[in-house]
Formats: sequence, structure tokens, C-alpha cells
Amino acid sequence: MNPTGTTVRLTDLHKRYRVGDGYADALKGVSLDVAAGEIVALTGPSGSGKSTLLNLCGLIDAPDRGTREIAGTAVDQLDEIALTALRREKVGFIFQGFNLVPVMTVYDNVEYPLLLLGTPAVERKTQVMALLQRTGLEAFSQRLPDALSGGQRQRVAIARALVKSPALVIADEPTANLDSTTAQQIVDLLRELAHERAAAVVVATHDERMSSHCDRVLRLADGVML
Ligand SMILES: Nc1ncnc2c1ncn2[C@@H]1O[C@H](COP(=O)(O)OP(=O)(O)OP(=O)(O)O)[C@@H](O)[C@H]1O
Ligand SMILES: [Mg+2]
Repeated sequence: MNPTGTTVRLTDLHKRYRVGDGYADALKGVSLDVAAGEIVALTGPSGSGKSTLLNLCGLIDAPDRGTREIAGTAVDQLDEIALTALRREKVGFIFQGFNLVPVMTVYDNVEYPLLLLGTPAVERKTQVMALLQRTGLEAFSQRLPDALSGGQRQRVAIARALVKSPALVIADEPTANLDSTTAQQIVDLLRELAHERAAAVVVATHDERMSSHCDRVLRLADGVML
């Protein structure tokens, strides 16, 4: 968290994709601030630019114009190595399809981001156990993802995204494959963890019932924030 409590500051972002001989303007001057501990829902119709904005926010892609500040760092001047290091340390990702490693146990999936960061073994164990307990997955720690329900898998993905205590968590349609009761539990868990760990969370969702569980709801339409 930086001293102002603002974890994400996106200003006047523009993004254009080449499509065949033409182009698509996916974002046309979008700005967004997210505070530490705040969970923001990003809604809007298909093609409105939600995933594009998440990818820019999560340092997966770069804008054509505009500036980004993540966890107090101006990121647009950074080279690829510095950008990767910042993403690895500061950003956790949760996807619709869970993206768990199928040959690794629940425990190993959650531990993996800490291995990438070079966290010492004792600290890794403490962090992983804390997250497994907090997400209700202790009893499943030695299972493979295949042997879990959709909701359980998504909780593993949440534990994995939060284990390194990232400043920012990006979630693209995290509840799309879940029934509505499970989906609400998942959003509630994400909101609680965001508050507890002072993480800024940006979640793209089609589902109004999900967005109503977030601290703030923003709407994109045709590449513009309404
Ligand atoms: N890699 C790409 N190449 C070309 N065009 C793209 C690419 N990714 C997105 N677009 C275009 O940019 C616009 C915004 O797409 P984006 O995926 O951000 O929308 P979205 O709001 O996430 O939609 P959905 O709700 O369907 O996931 C769309 O017109 C889309 O066709
Ligand atoms: Mg999308």
C-alpha cells in the first residue's frame, strides 16, 4: 500500500487492436482509481472492454496511450524485466477457468507463487496453511484439482492469488462457471480477503448479483466508462 491508500491509478487509457485490415478501439480514454482493500466490479456488455482493462491493470498488456500507477510505481516506463518482477510480486490473478496446475496438489498449487518469489520454506508453509485454512480447503490440501468441485477449485485459485499478499488482485469472470449460490460465496470470500489483506481487487463480471456484493460497481460500454 502506498501512503495515499490508492493502489491502482489508471489515467486516460486507450487501447486499439488490429483486426484484419482494420482495427477495434477497445478502450477510449478510461480512468480508474482503486483503493487498498477495495473490491470494484467492472460490468458491461460483451465486447465493452472489461478484459482489455483488466489486462492493462494487471500488467499483462500495455496501453497505446495513458498512464498506470500500481502500488505506488509508475509502470509505463519500466522495461519487460522490471514489469515481470512487479507483476509477480504485486499482482494476483483469478480466471474463469481456474487455471490450476492439474498435476499438482491443492497445497502445491497455492504454494507455487511463493516458490517463484523465492520465499523461504518456513514462511511458505505458514502462508499456505493460513490461506488454506481461511478458504476452507485444509481437508483438501493433498487432492488434485480434478477431484474438487468448481467452487472448491475457485477457492484454490483465490488462495493461490492471495498467498503472496499482493497489492492488487485481478479477477476476470471468476464466477462464470459456478451456480449462483457458490458464485455469491466466492465473491463474498474475495471481498472479505480484500478487506482483511488491504488488497485492491478488480473483478469483471456479467452478473448483477455478483456486482452487488462489491464495494463499487463501474460500467463500461463500447470502451468508455459510464
Ligand atoms: N486480442 C484481440 N485482438 C483483436 N481484438 C480484440 C482482442 N481482444 C479484444 N478485442 C476486441 O476489443 C473489444 C473489447 O474486448 P474485451 O475482450 O475487452 O471485452 P469484454 O468486455 O471483456 O467482453 P466479454 O464480456 O465478452 O468478455 C472487442 O471489440 C473485442 O473484439
Ligand atoms: Mg472479457
